[in-house]
Formats: sequence, C-alpha cells, structure tokens
Amino acid sequence: MSSHNESGPLKPVTVPQLLCWKKKGRKISAITAYCFTTARLVEQAGIDLVLVGDSLANVVQGLDTTLPVTVEEVIYHTRAVRRGLTRPLLVADMPFMSYQVSGEEALRNAGRLMKEGGAQAVKLEGGREHLETVRRLVQCGIPVMGHLGLTPQSIHQIGGYRVQGRTEQAAQRILEDARSLEEAGIFSLVLECVPAGLARQVTEALAVPTIGIGAGGHCDGQILVLQDVLGMNPEFQPRFVRRFAQLGEEIVRALTVYGNEVREGTFPGEEESFDPVPNGRAGH
Ligand code: KIV
Repeated sequence: MSSHNESGPLKPVTVPQLLCWKKKGRKISAITAYCFTTARLVEQAGIDLVLVGDSLANVVQGLDTTLPVTVEEVIYHTRAVRRGLTRPLLVADMPFMSYQVSGEEALRNAGRLMKEGGAQAVKLEGGREHLETVRRLVQCGIPVMGHLGLTPQSIHQIGGYRVQGRTEQAAQRILEDARSLEEAGIFSLVLECVPAGLARQVTEALAVPTIGIGAGGHCDGQILVLQDVLGMNPEFQPRFVRRFAQLGEEIVRALTVYGNEVREGTFPGEEESFDPVPNGRAGH
C-alpha cells in the first residue's frame, strides 16, 4: 500500500475519519516515528496514524524510563516527523509533568505541540484524574487521545512494566476510566498491556476507537514502536511485539561490510569518485 492509488493521492486521515472507521469495522494501523526519514517510509507504507511517542526516551535517547522527556524534545521530533508525512494523522505525546500540574499548563503545552511541532492531536496517560484537563483541551479544539492500562509515566508507582487490569477490581477501574475519558471528549484510546478480554469489553463499550499495544486482537486498531516492528532492538522481545523485519541484523551486516571495505581500500571505487571538471568544481 502507498499514499497514492490509481485515482491520485489518498485523503489525509482525520479525527472524524477514525470514528467512521470504527463504525464500519475498518481497523486502524498506527505506529510511532521520531524522525523525517522513517516518517516518509511510514507514509509510503500507508499507515493511518503516527505517534511521536515519549518512547523516544527508550529508542532514541537510550533511557530506562520516559520520565525525563521534555516538551521541547517532543516538539523537535514532531517537527521532523511532520515534514515526512502528508496522509497519516500525527499525534504527539504529552511528556510527564507537562499536563499534570494544571489545566492551564496542559493547554499551553498541548498548544505548543500543535503550533510548533505540527501535531494534529495529543496523547496523555491516565484516567479519572485528568478529566478536567481533557475537557479543557477538547473545548479549545485540541483532539486528545487517552492512554490506559500500562502507563509508562507511572512506572515507579506501578513498580514494573507488567500487564494491568488482571483483577476484577483493576479491570473495572480501567473500564470506568475509559467511559469517563470518552465522556470528557477523547477521540481515541490507547490500551497498553491489558488482557485481551478486557480490551474487548472496553472496545465494545466505547464509540471512539481503541488502539491496542499488548491488548489482543479485539481493539479497533493496533500500535507498535517502529524499531520493534523492524527488529532494530533484537534484545527487546516482549510477547506482544511481532517483528515484521530483521533490520537490526541487516544494518549490522551492511555496516560490517562497509567498515571492511574502507579498511581494505575497496571503498570508494572509481564509480563513487569524481572526475575533475573544467571549472575545477566537483561534479555529480
Ligand atoms: O510512547 C509511546 O510510544 C506510546 C505507545 C507505545 C502507545 O505511548
């Protein structure tokens, strides 16, 4: 699939379009991206929604948690991704402490992600504790994606990256939070690492689409981290990730050959070298 078909470029994905797809049972494909080059490839692959996730902490910055990520960093990556996209809906993550302190600060930061980063929507983690904030953002024309289940910004409270909603009480809480977030105005909801049955219940209870990661096959869409899909972090293999390519191995292979050829003097060859041209400037 690509961003074009025989009748021309595909129309940009919008928030109402996602709601319409849910009604029709058309599944939503989503992925994270953090830079221009990969955003262009995601566009060409026909993915519907791109998230500049605060998972950039793990896959770009090499950090253990998402907590240190700043609004400036998300803006920086969102801008780069924006330049590579025309069709997918672009969502930017609100970093830890960019929306918890007050509704005003949340509004200012969400506005920056849209104005400076070019995001079309924002995502924030948590349920009942953020309903006022969600309402405020939505009232101001900012589409908000919710995020329940495993919420990595609360990792120190949760105590580890593990499946959430396994007890009756915890599952009930997630279901109630999902309903409240929908009432507050979210346009979609990420469900991360929850049992498939619970994800199904939430999906059936909501009019807005659920986007699962480690939440089974009943969600209205799926999202994964780009580097995981492409097999670029071979040592990271949680159960919910399927690697659709083994680029990590391929990249190491290519770089090894490159290094060897530089050392052996077989790169660059004549075909990668310039001939002198009359005006003395290097030609292409
Ligand atoms: O930050 C992120 O990449 C996310 C997705 C895993 C949903 O929140």
